[in-house]
This record gives sequence, C-alpha cells and structure tokens, in this order.
Amino acid sequence: MRPLCPVQISGVGSYLPEQRLTNHDLERTLDTSDEWILQRTGISERRVLESGRATSDMAVEAIRSLCDSTSLDPSDIDLLIVASVTPDMLFPSTACLVQSKLGIPSTWGFDLSAACCGFVYALSTGVAFVSSGMRRKVVVVGADAMSRIIDPKDRNTCVLFGDGAGAILIEPAVQPENCFIDAFHEIDGSGGDSLCMPAGGSLQPANAKTVKDRLHFVKQDGSTVFKFATRKMEEASRRILERNKIAPSELKLMIPHQANARIIRGTAERLNLRNDQVVLNLGNYGNTTAATIPLAMQDALLEARLQKGDIILLASVGAGFTVGTTLLRWAY
Ligand code: ACO
Repeated sequence: MRPLCPVQISGVGSYLPEQRLTNHDLERTLDTSDEWILQRTGISERRVLESGRATSDMAVEAIRSLCDSTSLDPSDIDLLIVASVTPDMLFPSTACLVQSKLGIPSTWGFDLSAACCGFVYALSTGVAFVSSGMRRKVVVVGADAMSRIIDPKDRNTCVLFGDGAGAILIEPAVQPENCFIDAFHEIDGSGGDSLCMPAGGSLQPANAKTVKDRLHFVKQDGSTVFKFATRKMEEASRRILERNKIAPSELKLMIPHQANARIIRGTAERLNLRNDQVVLNLGNYGNTTAATIPLAMQDALLEARLQKGDIILLASVGAGFTVGTTLLRWAY
C-alpha cells in the first residue's frame, strides 16, 4: 500500500498507568518465577490500570501527551481511530467515548480491532485518509487494558501482558521525502482459535456457564502463536523491504510489536540486524497489544534514537492471525 500523496507522522504521545506488577509480585500468586518469565519472554514488569478507569481514559491521556509534545489542539483532530481489543464496552465505540472525554465538539472516529496489529492497521487507515485528502489531522491511538481480560490464575498468559496507550498524529508531509513509504498487511483466520477470548460476543454471550468456565479471559496456544509470529515477522519484513529495494542495513530502527524478546531477537538475527537497530522495551511494560509500537516509538524518541530522514520498519503479528509491516522515513 503506497499513499497517493506524501503523509508523515508528526508526533507521538503515550500513557502508562502508575501501578507496576513485577515478576516477583507474580511469584506470590502463581506457580512461576522471575527467572522463567525473564528467560522465556524478556519481561520483568508490566503496568496495571487502576480499577474504575478504562481504555478510553488511557487513550485520552495519550492524546493529551501527544498535544503537549506537538502544536496539536484536540479540537483540530478531524479523525480519531482507536485500535484496541479491550474497548470500554462493545458499544459505543471507544473513539466516541474518547471524543466526549476530550470535549472535541465535532470530529469523526471509529474503533479498529486487529489485536497486536491494531496500531499498524490503524496507521495505514489514517494514512489512506490523509493521502486521499479526505482528512488532514488524523490521530491514531493504540490502547489496551489487557489486565481486564487475562486470567490471573493462568500462568501461561497472565505473565505476558500489560496496560498502556500510545498516540500519533498523521498529517500531510512537510518534506515529501520524509514520509510514510509502504505497508504490507495480511490476515489468516485459520489461526483464530490459537489466541482468542471465546465468550462475550454473539457466539457465546455472557451467562453463568461462560463465567464459570472462565471463557471471558484470553486463551492461547502459546507455541502455535510463537511459531507463526516468528515466521511471519521475518517474512512480512523481508517482503516490504525487498519490494522497496531497501536493505536491512539501511534501516535506522526496526520497531517491532513487543510480545516476546525471543521472537524479536530471532527475527532481527535472521534479518541480519544489529542490536542497536532494534527497539526492545517489553521488559518494562510486557505486551500491551495495540500500544506496544507507539510506546516503543516514544522510548526511541526519548533515547534520541530517531532523527529526521531515518528509515524505520514497524512489524507486528497478532491474534487473528493478523500480520502487518510498515516502512517510513521519520519526519522530524
Ligand atoms: N511460569 C512457569 N512455567 C510456565 C509458565 C510460567 N509463567 N508458563 C508456562 N509454563 C510452563 C508450561 O506449563 C510448560 O510446562 P510443562 O513442560 O510441564 O508442560 C513449560 O513452562 C514450557 O512451556 P512452553 O509453552 O513450551 O514454553 P515456551 O518456551 O513456548 O514459552 C510462551 C511460552 C512464553 C507463552 C511462548 O510460547 C510465547 O511467547 N508465545 C507467543 C505468545 C505471545 O506472545 N502472545 C501474545 C499475543 S500474540 C503476539 O503478540 C505475537
């Protein structure tokens, strides 16, 4: 997918809840260990959203942080796309709730559900709206409160995830050479059962049995997801690099979805990327689903690892299965 007109990311904002849940905290409630979690996943701690607050609250905070770091006034947002698998509720959309909380008088917006690929899919959607001229200032938010849908008794899943939100602003490019370059996306629904939340939708509406059977929590076949993610992160990255004639050595940074350090390191090794070309921050936050990539972008900016003109590769694989890679030249 190549845009009709040059489009750039003009800013990044983020939000992380205060409360930290460390591996040592988990050792107290689960048959697990800091050593196991760290070795198998690379995660040390994650953030947990306090009760009474929801995904929309994190999204609002991330947008406020975006406004603080740019000249964006919330009332200038003419499209708001919220990527999440943990909406406040099935409807109204989280985008509507965020719009109301921000007090933006008139804007348009909607939610996008693509699990860990939510952010890259929403980014491509925003790019399409701006490059077609239909919208000028699109805010994309990746926000997930995974703590609300993981089973605290299931050590296979609950050690992996955390809560957080990241937001970006998409606008027409100021310098046409520093812009979104291309995106490659693919879905494979045959992997649906390998990672899902079985109940609470139209197939199995909530009832006493679904609650008793713990079907409102994430269920995962970790090894199938691991194998698919490992293969596809590399394949989709190679595909977008090759068709744009960009060598891995030309990348300033690969910003991958943060699910497991072994998936990221394996992909980076096979692409011949050096450690300094790869952003790895899941140790502090775990897998925040739609939020990992903007949170990693934010960390890269704070560490001065992103400069104008740098070529960046985003790569993600998630439930569905969903697959997505994005190539862009950083604009500021
Ligand atoms: N603490 C201690 N032991 C554990 C834990 C835990 N938290 N979780 C599982 N184990 C045990 C298992 O029960 C198993 O024991 P057994 O051999 O007695 O049966 C043993 O550890 C090994 O389990 P495996 O599943 O083989 O462990 P593996 O090395 O594959 O790691 C993991 C599991 C981390 C879930 C891995 O498969 C993974 O990361 N998969 C990808 C999942 C993922 O990232 N999903 C997120 C969303 S999708 C995405 O973002 C790509």
